[in-house]
Amino acid sequence: MKIGIIGTGVIGGIIAKKLAATGHEVKVYSSGGQQKLEERARELGVKPSTKDQIIADVEVLIVSIPTIAIPELSVLIAKVSDKVVVIDTSNYYPFRDGEIEDLKNGKVESVWVSETLGRPVIKAFNNLLAHSLEYGGKPEGAKDRIAMAMSGDDQQAKEIVSTLIKDMGFDAVDAGTLADSWRHQPGTPAYCTELVVAELKQALADGEKQEAAHLRDYAIGKFMEFSALPTHEDVLTLNRSLFPKNPKRH
Ligand SMILES: NC(=O)c1ccc[n+]([C@@H]2O[C@H](COP(=O)([O-])OP(=O)(O)OC[C@H]3O[C@@H](n4cnc5c(N)ncnc54)[C@H](OP(=O)(O)O)[C@@H]3O)[C@@H](O)[C@H]2O)c1
Repeated sequence: MKIGIIGTGVIGGIIAKKLAATGHEVKVYSSGGQQKLEERARELGVKPSTKDQIIADVEVLIVSIPTIAIPELSVLIAKVSDKVVVIDTSNYYPFRDGEIEDLKNGKVESVWVSETLGRPVIKAFNNLLAHSLEYGGKPEGAKDRIAMAMSGDDQQAKEIVSTLIKDMGFDAVDAGTLADSWRHQPGTPAYCTELVVAELKQALADGEKQEAAHLRDYAIGKFMEFSALPTHEDVLTLNRSLFPKNPKRH
């Protein structure tokens, strides 16, 4: 497929590299300037693009930038064809993104993104840690293949996203409409806990919306108590430990 990715940081970069490696035609854009973008694109094995060109002649557009920067894209995204599937990978963290009133008041994050961008989006690629995304993929049918959640209101768009998720080495689990996508936001049992399909479905069902923001901030507080940067295993262990029904790390 022809894919544009806005944001070439940790997540946008991993998605770009992996989708290009499975034969997709990937171009990338980020706001950090031409030279930085060209170097990053070379490193990822994809094409650098200008801001205007990133939305041209694509079937899928992946937005992978911090939540706080999403409003900066509203003018650009308004020009995107209705036929393009727009994917939102974002997670809202107040310590990083600041206070966004609607989100603080409990608006579902990707509903806010969709309203801010003025068009439908599919939420995906948000509930796996960078390490899982980069190294956790397995061939279809493999034992213990990690599952990724996605949500949105357009079934056909979700089928396309599900194919991309599988191409990256993960099973896809449809978590429902965009309004349901809080079930894989930070602070829920489905968020960055590296589960297989049956476990992820259970975790999506077990989430409690009113607890999520508190648990998200609690987890960040715990990570800040670490004397060194927490490892991938540390993060998984802590995330899973917040929810009694999640499997524990071995
Ligand atoms: N890290 C994780 O484990 C993880 C997992 C799943 C989802 N997510 C979510 O995915 C999103 C991206 O995360 P990340 O870890 O990849 O962030 P990151 O490493 O900080 O990268 C952010 C990227 O966004 C670009 N950017 C910022 N503002 C922009 C704008 N207005 N227009 C175009 N590009 C812009 C930056 O460009 P420059 O570098 O050129 O300045 C950078 O390439 C976040 O919402 C995050 O919460 C993160």
